[in-house]
Order: sequence, then C-alpha cells, then structure tokens
Amino acid sequence: MKSLAKVLFEIVVFITVLSLVACAAPTGVSQAPAGKTVKTYKTLVVGFAQIGAESGWRDGETQSIKETAAKLGVDLKFSDAQQKQENQIKALRAFIAQKVDVIGIPPVVTTGFETVLQEAKDAGIPVIFIDRKADVPEDLYATFIGSDFVLEGKNAAIELGKQVDEKANIVELEGTVGAGPAIDRKKGFDDEIAANHKDIKVLESQSGDFNLAKGKEVMQSFLKKYPGQIQAVYAHNDEMALGAIQAIEEAGLKPGVDIKIVSIDGEKAIFEAMVAGKANVTVECNPLLGPQFFEAALKLANGETVDKWIKSNEGIFRQDTAAAELPKRVY
Ligand code: AHR
Repeated sequence: MKSLAKVLFEIVVFITVLSLVACAAPTGVSQAPAGKTVKTYKTLVVGFAQIGAESGWRDGETQSIKETAAKLGVDLKFSDAQQKQENQIKALRAFIAQKVDVIGIPPVVTTGFETVLQEAKDAGIPVIFIDRKADVPEDLYATFIGSDFVLEGKNAAIELGKQVDEKANIVELEGTVGAGPAIDRKKGFDDEIAANHKDIKVLESQSGDFNLAKGKEVMQSFLKKYPGQIQAVYAHNDEMALGAIQAIEEAGLKPGVDIKIVSIDGEKAIFEAMVAGKANVTVECNPLLGPQFFEAALKLANGETVDKWIKSNEGIFRQDTAAAELPKRVY
C-alpha cells in the first residue's frame, strides 16, 4: 500500500508535467501575446515590398522569399517597386490597410521612410528590414536581417590589394546613390585603402546604380577618360562588374588580366566570368534569406523579440576555387 504522502506527491508531479507539456510550443508555432491567438506559419500573413528585379542577386532573394513562403504555407503579399521609393511606400501603406501580421522591406535608399514606418508602428505591425536598412530610430523596426556591408567593402579592398602592385590606379563603380550597401561598401573600402594601401589611387568613383547597363556605361566613360591608366575595378556588386567586363572587352583589353575585377555578391554569372579568367574575386553577399525572414516574422507576430541584427554567413571567392564552386551557386 502507498502512503498518502506518496500518492499526493505523485499527483503533484503528474499535474506539473501536464502543465509543462501544455505550455511547450510545437515546431513552427510560437507563443502569442496575451489575448491573441497563437499564429502558425499557416495563419501568418506577410507583406513584402521588394525593390525590383535589377539583378540576379535580387531575383535570387525574391525566389528565396517566395519559395520559403510556399513551403511553409505562409500567405505572402508580394509587391515589386520597380526601383522606386514611392512605390515601396505605397506598398507599405497597402499592407497596413490589409492588416498583415508582419512587413518585410529592403529599403531602396536609407532616407524618407520614417513617416510610413511610424504608421506601421501605430498599427501594431512589426517591420523587418531585410538585406538593406533605412536610417531610422530603432523603435521603428523590429530587426535587420542581412550582411555587414562595411566588412564587405573592407574585404574587397584587402582582396584588391593582393591583385595589384602597391602603386596602382583603380576605378570604383558605386551602387545606387543613397542606398545603404553603397554607402557602407564605400566606407569599408576607403578606410582599408587609407589604412593599409596608401599608394593605391582611386582615379574616379561613380554610381552604376547596381545594374549591368549603367555599370557598363560608366566603365566606358572611365576607359575613355583614363586610357591605359586603370589597373583594377572595384564594383559594389557583381552586376556592375559584369557591365565593366563588357566595356573592357569592347575596348580591346582583357578583363581579369589587363584590368583586375573585384566585386561583391557572388552571383553565378561572376563565377562563370572567373572561370573564364575575366574576373578575379567576389565577396559574397547572401540573398537567400527566406528561411531566416519567416522564422523571425512568426516570432514577431506572436509577440516575441528577436535579435536587432540577424547576420548572414558569407565567404570570399577567388578565381582558383571558382570552377569547383560554380555548380553549387543558386543565384
Ligand atoms: O542590398 C543588397 C545589395 O543590393 C546587393 O549587393 C546588390 O546586388 C543589390 O542591388
């Protein structure tokens, strides 16, 4: 016969275990704020205000967002701003009116988003900056998921320093004027050159708007202005580097040999160029952010906090590993 104390003890243990099991959240479900139903991926509604489709990199990001949403069963409202800030702002207002649970946005530039982000905050909708950030007070966004652009610029400068003589003339193709990655990649690069490669001279630096056509056009003008003087190109993204490669070839020179090419992103096309000996180094910037994005979105919809900066893991790729890496590239 069990003693009464033992029976009572077993009952207490049983009730404690039961309540712990009831509190534990299964995978894909997180806690809900008081008075709200717990959201799952299947009931989550997310608005995503994409910048556009200006590069293989951005297409890779869009694909990652759409595929992850479909896999998880998230209701995704996707909008393409065609490179225009006013369209991104309109999309945000539409998402607020639709009462989505969470909004994701890579702000095309860093300024001009404060008012609409305040509107999202007032409506109780958390905003995730993804791949780019706007310059706004910290209470206007929940988290930034993306890269350390300053570090990417610094790594590009270190790599370029290995490609050219100590005294070299180079040109720089900058990203979209006012865009976070353009500002930070320039700073990281300039600081490293000033600190450790004082004799590398940046002949000129101009925006190629993060796209191939503009990158090519700017490179054509550099080649005309500085004939025989350019030893390397630093491009803030691969797409502009691909444009520069075309311009250099059309000028009768060998990209990757006569003029070294260092860029950022890690697109499939730049790996092909490296395999062909036409580009030298790419510093990776990962656009495959779908899984991290929806994980954070679900937590935020359920009132949980997430880290203010969720960083992506990235590598540096040079010509010697390009052929082995190429089949693995997905964007
Ligand atoms: O925000 C990420 C950057 O923006 C990518 O490097 C570039 O390709 C895109 O336009």
